[in-house]
Amino acid sequence: MFRHLILAACLALFSVQPAFSAPLTPKEELGKLLYFDTQLSREKNQSCATCHQPPGFADPANAAMPHQEVVSKGSVRGSLGTRNSPTVAYAAFSPYFQWDSEDGLFLGGQFWDGREASLKGQARGPFLNPVEMTMPDGRSVVESCRSSLNVQHKRYLELYRTVYGVNLAETDLKDPLVADALYDFTADAIAAYEKSREVNQFSSKYDYVLAGKARLTAEERLGLKLFNGKGLCNKCHISKTGKSPSGGMIPPLFTDFTYDNLGIPRSTNPALAKAPVDLGLGGRPDIAAIDPKGLQKGKFKVPTLRNVALTAPYGHNGYFATLTEIVEFYNTAGLRGRWPQPEVAQNVNRTEMGNLKLTKKEVAAIVAFMGTLTDGYGQPLEDIVLPPFP
Ligand code: HEC
Ligand code: HEC
Repeated sequence: MFRHLILAACLALFSVQPAFSAPLTPKEELGKLLYFDTQLSREKNQSCATCHQPPGFADPANAAMPHQEVVSKGSVRGSLGTRNSPTVAYAAFSPYFQWDSEDGLFLGGQFWDGREASLKGQARGPFLNPVEMTMPDGRSVVESCRSSLNVQHKRYLELYRTVYGVNLAETDLKDPLVADALYDFTADAIAAYEKSREVNQFSSKYDYVLAGKARLTAEERLGLKLFNGKGLCNKCHISKTGKSPSGGMIPPLFTDFTYDNLGIPRSTNPALAKAPVDLGLGGRPDIAAIDPKGLQKGKFKVPTLRNVALTAPYGHNGYFATLTEIVEFYNTAGLRGRWPQPEVAQNVNRTEMGNLKLTKKEVAAIVAFMGTLTDGYGQPLEDIVLPPFP
């Protein structure tokens, strides 16, 4: 669904900020330290970056073997997640989870089902998640930061003092309120890093094209035309750019942060063989309680397509190993017998996808266009300025 509202909201958010090339602030730096620290997991073998590794900020182990591995491994041997690890880059742009009464739909939030409202709230989860970093409680995460066994502990002490004015070495972590306040700071700092220019680079070839500093090849140009036309992709993965009130560029995020059921089949991967049917947004207890007709069942958040060439496999259950496969799915999902049954038959979108009549050459062109959304084509462009995130 095309959403002018979101664009308008983004427009209002963009304003003149310090240049992108500014080094990380102390808070962002603390967040980065935490984000990459494997000491903060049960077996001291896993950090946020394990499953959200730059440059794609998703799981490189899955991307390397997208046919075999569709979900990430946890810190403890044998533990596995139940959904494909999404990219963390550009997640900062997702508005808080909300009901949009004008359009009559849910949007925003973090995770495939939006169950966490904000990045900060999200960042409290993975350390304690039993199939992720598996720490017993927030206190032990903070304890691991200040422990002299942590090679970075001096840096942590310095940064906690600079950013939050606390002396980590002398705080009483046995007091649950103190421990929780400090644990909250870790989430706050990680969220700050996730909002930094380092994570939201806008340095892809397409950004350069929009700035008039690069040119698409003929195939990429055809792909863009199809993306916005015959392929209907921009109905949900918004590709429009705009200008902010201050004259800066507003780069497209390739999502409108709404929810849809594409009718992706159930995964046949052994890792998900025993997983229950994933109802996505409609499976959340809070949503199920107010959705007696099940209108949200099977819906998942529209993901950004920035860096998508680096983040295989695709879809919430990693059903598609390659971009060509998922585009072929959009092309033919509505044709009888062409694909297995949808995992959730209710609410499947049949108006904006399913019988696009794209030729092989056209599918390839759309894939080629998505390849231009990978960051690192050049330096982050100076005239793109991040909004002041909430
Ligand atoms: C073991 C792998 C793993 C680890 C470790 C991990 N994540 Fe995730 N992350 C996931 C998966 C899987 C999801 C999607 C889960 C869902 O939607 O239910 C996710 C979702 C997210 C999202 C939501 C993105 C979006 O667009 O909705 C953010 C943000 C995030 N993780 C940040 C973090 C941070 C910060 C850490 C470290 C504190 C972390 N992750 C550690 C696997 C992991
Ligand atoms: C009706 C809205 C809608 C349209 C139209 C649409 N998408 Fe999507 N797209 C989504 C949603 C929702 C998901 C996640 C679905 C899921 O995982 O169950 C998604 C997922 C994807 C993914 C996987 C990304 C990832 O990180 O796993 C790719 C790639 C993609 N879409 C590309 C396209 C292309 C190319 C087109 C046009 C041919 C297109 N989309 C049209 C809503 C849409």
